Order: sequence, then C-alpha cells, then structure tokens
Amino acid sequence: MLNSSATLRPNPLGKLNFSFGSQLDQKLSPQTFTEWRQYIYDLSGIYFQDNKKYLLESRLQKRIKHLKIDTFEQYLQYLKTNIKREEEKKQLFEAITINETYFFRNQPQLDALVASIVPELFANKNGNLNKLRIWSAASSSGEEAYSIAMMLNELVLPKYPNLKVEIIGTDINYAVIETAQQGIFKEYSIRNTPPIYLKKYFTKVDNTYVIDQKIKNMVSFKILNLYDDGAMHMIGKSDVIYCANVLIYFDLESKIKVVNNLYNNLNPEGYLFIGYSETLHGISKAFRLVSFPKTIGYKKG
Ligand SMILES: C[S@@+](CC[C@H](N)C(=O)[O-])C[C@H]1O[C@@H](n2cnc3c(N)ncnc32)[C@H](O)[C@@H]1O
Repeated sequence: MLNSSATLRPNPLGKLNFSFGSQLDQKLSPQTFTEWRQYIYDLSGIYFQDNKKYLLESRLQKRIKHLKIDTFEQYLQYLKTNIKREEEKKQLFEAITINETYFFRNQPQLDALVASIVPELFANKNGNLNKLRIWSAASSSGEEAYSIAMMLNELVLPKYPNLKVEIIGTDINYAVIETAQQGIFKEYSIRNTPPIYLKKYFTKVDNTYVIDQKIKNMVSFKILNLYDDGAMHMIGKSDVIYCANVLIYFDLESKIKVVNNLYNNLNPEGYLFIGYSETLHGISKAFRLVSFPKTIGYKKG
C-alpha cells in the first residue's frame, strides 16, 4: 500500500516515480557516500572525510528536494548525464562549500603586505614597481579581497600614487562571487572591521553595509576552481596570493596539486599566505618560510 501522501510524478530523469513530496529523509548508504565523495573530489579536490557524511547528506538533500529527485543515486546520475548538468554543478558547489569569512579576518597578514612586502617589492625593482597584482584565491564573498584594497588605499597608494594595483578574487561558488560583485554585506561580515575603516569605506543601508565604490573598482571577481589545472594556467601571475582556509577541505594529494599551481602563479620573490590553522609542511618544499610580526608567509624562490 502506498503512503497516503505519495503521488505519481515524472522526475528530471524523465521516469515516473512514486514520490513522497519533501519527506526525503533517507540516509546516504556507505556505497553511495563513497561514490559521491569520489565524484566531488574529482571535480574540486574537496574530500569529505567519513565523519562528514552527515554534512554531505544534508547539503545534498537541499538540492534533491529542489529538483524533486527521489534519491541520492538519481541526483548523481543527473549530474553525470542530464543536459543541464553544467548548470547543476554550480548549484552543487554552492550547496557543499563552506564560505565562512569576514573583513580583516587576518590582520597580521594584511599588515605584512603593507609594511613589509610592498616596500620589498619596490626595493627589488630599485623603486620602479609599476604594478602590483594580488590574488585572493578562494575569496568567498570578497571580504578578504576588499580588506586588502582598503589597506592599500589607506597605507600604500598615498605614498605611491602611480602604482597600478590589481586585486582579483576567485571562488568555485558562483553565489558568493555574485555577493562579492554586489559589494553589499551583512553585519556578520563587518564585525571585525576597525571603526575607522567602517566609517570611511562603508555606507549603512537598512541592515546592510555597502562597500565604497572606489574600493569596489580596485577589485574584480570571477569563478575559478583551484583544482582545475586549465583554469589555473589561465589566471596569470601575481605578486602576492592569499589562499586561506580552503586547503583544509582538500586531501593531501589535492593540496599538493593546488599549492604547486599556486607556486607557478606567483611572480619571482612573490608571497603566498594560507590560513592560521593551515601549513605547507609535508605539502611543498618549494617555498621559503618568512616571519612577519604575528604571522608567517611563504616566499617563492
Ligand atoms: C572558508 S572560505 C575561506 C574564505 C577566505 N579565504 C577567508 O579565509 O576568509 C573557503 C572558500 O573556499 C572555496 N572553495 C572550496 N573549494 C574550492 C575550489 N576547489 N576552488 C576554489 N574555491 C574553493 C569555498 O567555496 C569557500 O568560499
């Protein structure tokens, strides 16, 4: 006998199913979890440990409900075969990534840039540095990239008005890139922002904080998958790369691949910064460790 709430309807795979509306509360079987884990890993380098099965389950359920698909297996099939699979991959990345970030999250790394690295890059070029390129890789909604822009505008550009600054922010999640491009932020994002910056570079509109247009113009954002070798070859070289709080989602092999690509995307004498809780120990020996007040950076060459 059918449950009284069940209906007969076509699913996106074109077959008729008995559906139980939004009552999907099935669990990922061990085998389906393994298949999903491999699929996501092959696409993005993100590796769901065994203890993250529940997290993956709940994230996938949202998409399954939205698409009115009945099982995790069918959703995987959809992603592999459906004509709309490329569009759905974007939604998948939005569903499974963790995008926690906020302005001035790692102040010592920003201080290192303005107080030590920029002067060093000028010295390397005998004072004739024309262009500075900074990349916030895995930027999420852009708070890090905009923090860099504010610091440079405040503390570097007044001294070097002819310096051309290019800041790019990239992420695999299209939705956070859209937020970054809009430049409108919630209270949560500005909670660590020094009052002087908050006052000067944001306009409060209702419950949101709109970033100053000049700062917005200093930064551009685009979708980029750090695990995609082709895309990583296209991004171009930077003087400083901030790639914080994303390596933790990768396994050793994907960390090695991504860090190697980051290294290749740095100019000679360029610097890489990663998150507080992350290390390149066991991942790369190509960088030189450099100490700055309250933080460390990884230098190319
Ligand atoms: C926790 S946030 C870190 C944001 C920012 N870097 C910070 O430290 O505040 C991690 C970001 O990494 C992104 N991410 C995960 N895997 C990625 C990949 N393969 N390529 C690019 N971005 C990725 C996620 O979408 C997420 O926005």
